[in-house]
Amino acid sequence: MPLIRLAADDRTFPCEAGDTVLRAALRSGVGMSYSCNTGACGNCRFELVDGEVEHLRADPPAWTDKDRARNRYLGCQAAPRGDCTVKFREDPAAVPKIAPRRRRGALLGRTDLSRDFAEFAIRVDGDPAFLPGQYALVSVPGVEGPRVYSMCNLPGEDGVWRFQIRHVPGGAATGVLFGDLAAGTDLLLDGPYGLAHLRPEAPRDLVLIAGGSGLSPMASIARGALAEPALAGRSIHVFFGGRSPADARVAGFLADLAPGRLRLVTAVSDPDHGEEWSGPTGFVHEVVDAEMGDGLRDHEVYFAGPPAMAVAVQKAMHARGVPQAQIHFDEFY
Ligand code: FES
Repeated sequence: MPLIRLAADDRTFPCEAGDTVLRAALRSGVGMSYSCNTGACGNCRFELVDGEVEHLRADPPAWTDKDRARNRYLGCQAAPRGDCTVKFREDPAAVPKIAPRRRRGALLGRTDLSRDFAEFAIRVDGDPAFLPGQYALVSVPGVEGPRVYSMCNLPGEDGVWRFQIRHVPGGAATGVLFGDLAAGTDLLLDGPYGLAHLRPEAPRDLVLIAGGSGLSPMASIARGALAEPALAGRSIHVFFGGRSPADARVAGFLADLAPGRLRLVTAVSDPDHGEEWSGPTGFVHEVVDAEMGDGLRDHEVYFAGPPAMAVAVQKAMHARGVPQAQIHFDEFY
């Protein structure tokens, strides 16, 4: 099994066949920065001092010409071909509280939430612990490369991880998941990953913002906050944005979790779908800004959703002066 050596202090950690530098580092408790795990954000960049690696994705979006020229690679994509020496700045915040591991899972079933949104239940082998808001890499039969899906439940549920997933038109993985994948199908999962998890130690009310499949981690964080004694009495404001009224209604289940303590606001960006809609209209970041105003600065803010939404939310939070330490998201772009 290849050994990865850290140039800074000669520590080593093993990397199993098919594993990547990032995932092997995290499994060994080494704090390598990351976010997306898919080659998109560039946070896991490292310098290869010695040895040979090969990227899993042929041309990951975050790997630049400058990286190639400087012998830099992406940790989440780089699989070593033998012993290697690598250089990167360790980030104590990236040391996993729960070490990610590869495991088998069995699909228990799917519950449709709307015409293109469903919840999938998978029973996983081994310790099912994760932090609310974290994600797993899920390998879907017949589809090349794993997909990133976030859990929507809490880990105490008898070894079951639940994922709320939107059917992406033309998407290879969701095509299979929403096709005729039978209950009992074996799946491979790797996790938990992700740094945008619930911070019980942050003594503030919460604002959770989601679009599309970003609903799943926000549902988990809402459930986690409601179950967390350190956050007892804290208010939770959930904002969910969809294009149509039918999209927005998918989040309706959240309103029943804790009436009076959890407030759900659903926004529709394109209400002209021939369906009645009396709620807020506009992009979800605009609705958050209009509803919360400068009060956002006093909240812990979590968000997840499509890249355009995530960028717009970030800008809106910065414009309102929300301290960076109170903003939590995983960068999938
Ligand atoms: Fe590797 Fe995002 S590019 S974690």
